[in-house]
Amino acid sequence: MANTKSIHGEWSSRFAYILAATGSAVGLGNIWKFPYITGENGGGAFVLVYLACVIAIGIPIMIAETLMGRRGRQSPINTLTTLSTEANANKKWHYLGWLGVLAGVLILAYYSVIAGWACAYVLKAFWGGFSSDAIVVKESFDSLMASPGQLVFWHSVFMVATMSIVMRGVKGGLEKAVQVLMPALLALLIVLVGYAMSTGEAYFKGLSFLFDPDFSEIDADAILTAMGHAFFTLGLGMGAIMVYGSYLPSGISITKTSLYIAGADTIVALLAGIAIFPLVFANGLEPGAGPGLIFQTLPIAFGNMTGGWLFGILFFVLLVFAALTSAISLVEPIVAWLVENRGFTRAKASVLSGVAIWALGVSVAFSFNIWSGFKVFDKNIFDLLDYLTANLMLPIGGFCIAVFTGWVMQTEHVKEELDLPEFIFNAWTIFVKYVAPASVLLVLLHVLGVF
Ligand code: TRP
Repeated sequence: MANTKSIHGEWSSRFAYILAATGSAVGLGNIWKFPYITGENGGGAFVLVYLACVIAIGIPIMIAETLMGRRGRQSPINTLTTLSTEANANKKWHYLGWLGVLAGVLILAYYSVIAGWACAYVLKAFWGGFSSDAIVVKESFDSLMASPGQLVFWHSVFMVATMSIVMRGVKGGLEKAVQVLMPALLALLIVLVGYAMSTGEAYFKGLSFLFDPDFSEIDADAILTAMGHAFFTLGLGMGAIMVYGSYLPSGISITKTSLYIAGADTIVALLAGIAIFPLVFANGLEPGAGPGLIFQTLPIAFGNMTGGWLFGILFFVLLVFAALTSAISLVEPIVAWLVENRGFTRAKASVLSGVAIWALGVSVAFSFNIWSGFKVFDKNIFDLLDYLTANLMLPIGGFCIAVFTGWVMQTEHVKEELDLPEFIFNAWTIFVKYVAPASVLLVLLHVLGVF
């Protein structure tokens, strides 16, 4: 039978859980990744596919993953063992936990490098390094990319910060920090949207790029990227929300909290897009500039605004915090497992996983400069890790989670965790049993060239 409480503790309230889970969802994915992949994939039509994936695949799977966590009450690996025993199913399901742990490690390795860019930009803003000249701004970004030393330094700073929070446990100071930082980030995004409006014609160009769908821009790869991003941005498919769910007191509605989290996450992403694309058009930049997009556009806005240096510092500080609250959810599954199964203290578990992830991250930092020529399947290390995790591992993990709750767990047990009115429960069941797994499978098989 399911345990009633996790050995790692519990969230102090429903609100605390919403903050932590929103903290995990809102991060670089919304502000850095969403705009640049939207730019690379032609805009509006891509945004629509992404929104459809959030609704039809993301939200149902978020509910599924959270309920598994709350019922299993342990790290994802042990939760899967417990739940498959409860359902008289094959114990091999616990490998799904391992797939998630691996995905978390691989994601954090590159996530930390990008968060390092944001750290570097705090300092740039402080030294008055932002300019209203798009060329100067781009040169400054390129020079950061060309410096392995700086990239590794900032990556190290971010990893140390992440692991020192994880060491203290999921609750310690974190709940309070998120409470202040998330609304502040939202406020600054609104300031940036306000600035974007002042670009006149470019503002409307930006909006129509984001919201006028042109489906000729969409191919199978774009659909895979949009679907993968729905998992990435909601933090699904690798056990992060499962482990957060395992600290969720019973009696709190998983469905409602999931809707809040997905809603907040989507709003932040769209605001980031609305802030950035007008700047792209106002300054004659390329929407498809790639991973550097926000670092080549936002500094122009700060360079132009009165008091822009201050807004610039604030913005990048908040971005670093948003990244931190996401990063901790990426390592929590492995740390929880090391504590449960190896008897490590949280401190030891954190240091050990931190060092391994840091080392992998160094190779990502090098992939932007000295190792940029090293390619596998025509992708450098950064692109490879990103593709492997966001486009393959997360959707595969999400598919298995949907199948597990939809087909393997006993309906009675699922109902116990969800406690929903019959027709909502039935609607959700259709999504986790059929819609979500079938969509993921179709997209993956199509991209793999099966049909
Ligand atoms: N959702 C975060 C972002 O958008 C990243 C993240 C946190 C994540 N936890 C995750 C991605 C778990 C995948 C899986 O920045």
